[in-house]
Amino acid sequence: MVVLITGGAGFIGSHLAERLLRQGNTVVCVDNLDDYLYSPALKRANIELLSEYPAFTFIEGDIRNQEALRQLLLDRGCEAVFHLAAYAGVRASVQEPEKFMEVNINGTLSVLEAMREAGLRTLIFASSSSVYGNAAHVPFKETDAADQPISPYAASKRAAELLAYSYYSLYGFQITCLRLFTVYGPRQRPEMAIRKFIHRILEEEPIELYGNGLTFRNYTYVADAVQGLMKALEHSGEGFRVYNIGGAKSICLKEVIEVIEQITNKKSKIIYRPEQAGDVRHTAADISKAKKELEYVPEVTLEEGIQRYMKWLTVVC
Ligand SMILES: NC(=O)c1ccc[n+]([C@@H]2O[C@H](COP(=O)([O-])OP(=O)(O)OC[C@H]3O[C@@H](n4cnc5c(N)ncnc54)[C@H](O)[C@@H]3O)[C@@H](O)[C@H]2O)c1
Repeated sequence: MVVLITGGAGFIGSHLAERLLRQGNTVVCVDNLDDYLYSPALKRANIELLSEYPAFTFIEGDIRNQEALRQLLLDRGCEAVFHLAAYAGVRASVQEPEKFMEVNINGTLSVLEAMREAGLRTLIFASSSSVYGNAAHVPFKETDAADQPISPYAASKRAAELLAYSYYSLYGFQITCLRLFTVYGPRQRPEMAIRKFIHRILEEEPIELYGNGLTFRNYTYVADAVQGLMKALEHSGEGFRVYNIGGAKSICLKEVIEVIEQITNKKSKIIYRPEQAGDVRHTAADISKAKKELEYVPEVTLEEGIQRYMKWLTVVC
């Protein structure tokens, strides 16, 4: 297949591109190598890696340039779009909400419109577990209300899902929204917990822990997130669907640190800080729908995932 990945230079997008290319697909990636949340040098390194595949094309561009996107979809004969380009990050969205609305909502509208004009209908959208907010019960199910987001980031992701629904309803788009639960692994965004903690512990620097370390996350190893995205493509063609894509179990931050300590054989120094506005206290995914309908099964435990991250570090450093 010929697929377009928006945000393909980023963490998850670059892993997805690699998997698609290995399976013999043609991948076109659009990314503006944005420098707002982390260094474009890391994104360029991802693109360099992917450029070894002859079936890979990188276009440096902004998803908000709708006309260029439309032309690209037509010129390259794209058959499906993975829409991952976004500003990701709860805390930054509290500081600068306008930026998040502009890229995550208007950017998504631009992707949908470009697809509509190009006659393309198959979209897989990277949504987020944050849409559930501080839901009263866990694990989160897709049927739970997702109308009380507690950060602009979460609100922007939910708004993008709703916008996508309207394109399904109006134009018959086939849309799969995957609510990804905290993804980690090699090439992870530098500000995210697991990557930051590993590096701090290795460098014997203190770790800042917001809240009491008892926030729970359903950490998802990146290969499992990619598995979910690939399965969504395989099963696309059935209207508008939403799935939780998470790891096997929910784990608290303190436990994550203990696992890192065991694997690195180093002790952490923790500085406790107050809970951060916008952070959800407990995320846990009910993945039974994805298991049943997509045959999605997370395979990588936290211990295995952190070991794989460490192995990757020894190769890149
Ligand atoms: N990493 C996670 O834990 C997680 C969890 C839930 C959802 N998601 C979603 O998955 C997607 C990928 O996340 P990630 O962690 O790989 O983030 P990332 O920041 O590494 O990747 C996003 C990419 O989008 C690009 N981008 C931003 N604005 C753009 C624009 N206007 N035009 C073109 N490209 C643009 C960035 O340059 C970046 O390379 C995002 O949509 C995010 O909201 C991620």
